[in-house]
Amino acid sequence: MKGFTTDNVVIEARKISKHFPGVRALHEVDLNVYAGKVNAVVGENGAGKSTLMNILSGVYTEYDGELLFNGQKVVFKDTTDARQVGISIIHQELQLVPNMSILVLLNVSPFWQQVIKGLVILLAVIIDKIQKKKEI
Ligand SMILES: Nc1ncnc2c1ncn2[C@@H]1O[C@H](COP(=O)(O)OP(=O)(O)O)[C@@H](O)[C@H]1O
Ligand SMILES: [Mg+2]
Repeated sequence: MKGFTTDNVVIEARKISKHFPGVRALHEVDLNVYAGKVNAVVGENGAGKSTLMNILSGVYTEYDGELLFNGQKVVFKDTTDARQVGISIIHQELQLVPNMSILVLLNVSPFWQQVIKGLVILLAVIIDKIQKKKEI
């Protein structure tokens, strides 16, 4: 098709496989993403679209296969890495951000993060003690 030459491939995924416990989400998937085009990945629920996008954007770092960006092999260690080459993701599902705590998201300074964490632990210990007393 006119315009679809390998010169225009900005992102290439080769033989991407991804397993979750008990589920094979992706099996040797190849994908070319063409510059200057609207690229669509279409498939039924559970086909693995989100998993593939999460791999392309550095959310999942454990997978088989390889990614190329402008013909160069890339290994993203996190989403910041992917963003540095211009790949970011807008999630369909609301997701937790496992690598960021609420305090980091709220831009609380490291000092106050420690203070608040300490207070939360203290509170948990007090609640635990009160509950144990009630059980007696
Ligand atoms: N975090 C996860 N843990 C376990 N299984 C998952 C996880 N994410 C997706 N899956 C499974 O992997 C398969 C592909 O899911 P997904 O990539 O969300 O598909 P799609 O986005 O195409 O609907 C499904 O069987 C799904 O249940
Ligand atoms: Mg999905």
